[in-house]
Amino acid sequence: MKTAEIVKEFSTYFQEYKAATNHPEPTWMSIASADKSGRPSTRIVLLKDFDERGFVFYTNFTSRKGQQLQDNPFAALTFYWPELSRQVRIEGAVEKVSDEEADAYFASRARKSQIGAWASKQSQDIEHKLDFEKRVAKYALKYAVGKVPRPPFWGGFRVIPELIEFWVNKEFRLHDRTVFTRQEGDDWAVRKIYP
Ligand SMILES: Cc1cc2nc3c(=O)[nH]c(=O)nc-3n(C[C@H](O)[C@H](O)[C@H](O)COP(=O)(O)O)c2cc1C
Repeated sequence: MKTAEIVKEFSTYFQEYKAATNHPEPTWMSIASADKSGRPSTRIVLLKDFDERGFVFYTNFTSRKGQQLQDNPFAALTFYWPELSRQVRIEGAVEKVSDEEADAYFASRARKSQIGAWASKQSQDIEHKLDFEKRVAKYALKYAVGKVPRPPFWGGFRVIPELIEFWVNKEFRLHDRTVFTRQEGDDWAVRKIYP
């Protein structure tokens, strides 16, 4: 199999899920990262882009996950699409998306979200009760007119898939699991595994 065929399969089911669900954030996925010693942590983020190069989400680089992904540049994603009785798991190395790509996505966001990105020291302690509100007000004033630039500490990570598993629910827990593993370059091996 080639990367394009597997990404197409992901895309087909992803579109079907988005059409079928009432979920307010249908592009949600969990992402696991690990610290330098290998201890994992997970959280939900939104998938913003995907293609043959990988699966992209945006975040604050100084956040807990941001630090971990820079210290230990590997991640695991999980999607669960209950309306389709499907789960997809993706694992691989991560890289930062280009500045141009991050700028373009940042520019597409709502202005208040852009201000929020500047104001949030994501994952750090809030020392005093109103510090966050004050920072939001400060950046709203600073960027009251004109374009809000992308903060240098904010951008995208791309998970470059090395393993993709499609899991399909079947009766009596006799689920169907297909695992694609990247071989050389653009070639993937495919196998079925027990549920
Ligand atoms: C539905 C949903 C979508 C989210 N999307 C994002 C996102 O795209 N980027 C992000 O940094 N955090 C997002 N969050 C917040 C994260 O789950 C998490 O709280 C935050 O990124 C801090 O995680 P960290 O301390 O492990 O770095 C989202 C949360 C939810 C529930």
